[in-house]
Amino acid sequence: MKFFVDTAEISEIRELAATGLVDGVTTNPSLIAKSGRKFLDVVAEICSVVPGPVSAEVVSNDFETMLKEGKKLAAIAKNIAVKVPLTVDGLKTCKALADAGTMVNVTLCFSPAQAILAAKAGAAFVSPFVGRLDDVGTDGMQLIADICQIYAQYPTFRTEVLVASVRGPMHIVEAAKLGAHVATMPPSVLKQLFGHPLTDKGLAQFNADWKKTGQSLL
Ligand code: E4P
Repeated sequence: MKFFVDTAEISEIRELAATGLVDGVTTNPSLIAKSGRKFLDVVAEICSVVPGPVSAEVVSNDFETMLKEGKKLAAIAKNIAVKVPLTVDGLKTCKALADAGTMVNVTLCFSPAQAILAAKAGAAFVSPFVGRLDDVGTDGMQLIADICQIYAQYPTFRTEVLVASVRGPMHIVEAAKLGAHVATMPPSVLKQLFGHPLTDKGLAQFNADWKKTGQSLL
C-alpha cells in the first residue's frame, strides 16, 4: 500500500518524507487556502521534496477552463497528478489529460458507479472519500470494498484506488485489508500509525536492562 500525505504544509511534508515512508502528496483547494501560500509556488516546492505523485486540483468547473488549468498544473513538474472533480466536465478533462500522458486523480468520488466512470476515463487514481461518507452515516469503507471488487474484474482498468478523507488509523488498516492501492492521510494520522503503548513499554524495559549490563555497543 502506498502512503500519500494529505497536506500542503511543506514543513510537515519534509518531516514525514524523511521517514522514507511517503510515496506522494495530495492537496486540494481547502488545504492550499489553509497553507496561506501561493498555489503554484507551494505545489512546485512539494514536487521538489517528494518524487512520487503530487496531486494539484483544478479550480474551475467547466471543461475548457479545467483543461487549461490542468495543463498549467501538469507543466509544474513531471510528478504532478492533476486532480479533477467527478463531474461530466471533470471526466472529460480527465480523458483529455490522460490521453496526453498526464496523471489524473479523479476526486470527490462517493459511489461505485462514479469509480467505474473514472477508470473508463483513464484516471491514474480515483479518490473515494471514506470519512465524509462516515460523517453522514454511510459506511465509507464499504465503498472501498465495492470499488476494489469491481476493478479486480477488469484487468484493463489501470486506475489505482486512493483512499481519501481518512480520519484515523483504522481507516488505513481496513483499506489495506481490502487491497486499496493508496491511502492519503493527514500527517497526524501517519504519525498515529507508529504508536503502540506496548512498544514504548517494551523499549523502556530493554533500555533499562541494557543499562544494567554496563556494556556499550559502539
Ligand atoms: C484528498 O485528496 C482529499 O481532498 C482529502 O482527503 C479530503 O479530506 P477531508 O474530507 O478530511 O477534507
